[in-house]
Amino acid sequence: MKKDSPIGVFDSGVGGSSIWQEIHKLLPFENIIYLADSKNAPYGNKSSEEITLLSIKNVEKLIALGCKIIVVACNTATTNAITTLRKKYNIPIIGIEPAIKPAALQTTSKSIGILATKGTLSSILFSKTTEELRKDISVIEIIGEGLVSLIEAGNLDGPEIVELLKKHTKPMIDANVDYVVLGCSHYPYIIPQLQKILPENVKIIDSGEAVARQTKTVLQSLSLLREENTQPKLQFFTNAETDTLKFLLKEYSEMISVEKKAF
Ligand code: DGL
Repeated sequence: MKKDSPIGVFDSGVGGSSIWQEIHKLLPFENIIYLADSKNAPYGNKSSEEITLLSIKNVEKLIALGCKIIVVACNTATTNAITTLRKKYNIPIIGIEPAIKPAALQTTSKSIGILATKGTLSSILFSKTTEELRKDISVIEIIGEGLVSLIEAGNLDGPEIVELLKKHTKPMIDANVDYVVLGCSHYPYIIPQLQKILPENVKIIDSGEAVARQTKTVLQSLSLLREENTQPKLQFFTNAETDTLKFLLKEYSEMISVEKKAF
């Protein structure tokens, strides 16, 4: 493995590009390859076995492309497949899980909300890692039904998404939550809409920054961080149309390439 080898990032679709942005911000000289498996999105309603098989396919593609580390930029894939992936491959694998812990430690109303996919909320890993935290607080779990498909279509602020968000947040607001945890990497793209619907005192948190920090820590510990002040190669591959990725990443258009590719 070389320092110049790329960081491999994958998600069920375009959402993990929110995590990519955090990684690129923290590690601006790193080469990164991003795979958007949009052809198979959403993962959230699939079985654990299906999610694992799709994750294996993505990891094998990233390994074949020469990546030095893999970031699973998908909560659904992490919570359902990361144990299998880590057993199967030697390459370091970073996952993303809902940031329940910081919310649980900081809540004053003792009530927090989590918005995530069915696949994440029903996973064994999620129930195991949150078990202890649930003793002192109530956790309002809401499946973000319908959101991923709209975001995949680039529809971030239409009436459909606003209606869905009103419906999904109502039980949280009724339960007096003061934190809403975004447990899906697609959702940071709809934070502006969420903020308009949630009461002003409610804070929204996601795990993007934490994943970027963890990626840096692991690369540092393996002496695999790339030399600074060298131009990075930033490639995006999607197995569906490129429009939404290009739209979400328009501020990076000068420095990235976005291509359609079968995988
Ligand atoms: N972006 C994904 C996540 O973080 C998955 C969304 C989906 O495909 O259902 O959970």
